[in-house]
Amino acid sequence: MSQTDSLPLVDRFGRLSAELTAAERENLKLLLSMAAGGLLVGHAGGASEDLRQVALKTVQRSLPKLHDGKRPEFTTGIVFLGRAPFFTDADLAAMDEESLANRYRAERFHDHYVASGAPLAREMALSSDINDFLSERVGPVLPTYKANYLYYDAPGLGIDPHVDKDEFALNVLTMLEHRPDQRHSELILYPPDEAPVHVQLAHGESLVFFADSVTHQRTRTVAGESIRLVSFGYHPI
Ligand SMILES: [Fe+2]
Repeated sequence: MSQTDSLPLVDRFGRLSAELTAAERENLKLLLSMAAGGLLVGHAGGASEDLRQVALKTVQRSLPKLHDGKRPEFTTGIVFLGRAPFFTDADLAAMDEESLANRYRAERFHDHYVASGAPLAREMALSSDINDFLSERVGPVLPTYKANYLYYDAPGLGIDPHVDKDEFALNVLTMLEHRPDQRHSELILYPPDEAPVHVQLAHGESLVFFADSVTHQRTRTVAGESIRLVSFGYHPI
């Protein structure tokens, strides 16, 4: 098989996706996500390096195709990066406090900790300021009412390359704390046909991205490093 032979597969995944139920599409997305994660870290089941590259390109390009028409101008998957206007300093301080207060009940999810459904974060997820900001950029969205506090606050925590579940299709991810100033762990996005994007969010900065379409990971923390984030899920309609 030549390197280009498998790329029409991308369009076929797109056409297949249009015929699937939401549950089937979610299942296919999981399969592609698992494949992308494995291929990114070098697994290829004994296939050649050329074939691994073609397979990786195929899954990376196919993931946005599963949502054709709802991922406008998709290149990196990033909608916004920086200090978002929809959070005031008081909002950030209140979420920071709630994040700390909810740490005790956070549950381990793979290699980090998650506290879901805290009241202030859930309320904040319904903010019309956020909704307006997103709608202006990507068209109409609905909050999924999912709000998670994330904790990477012990050595070796992180998350391997993956795409998010449907509930976090459009993810508003905001940094509450990353200690110390000398940082090791970082967020990396792997957009199709582009160099990986390395993201270090400062306190209060947000990354808004199509987390169900672009493979991404958080690299592992080292001793003494501690990261707290808040993540809101939205759904393009
Ligand atoms: Fe994610």
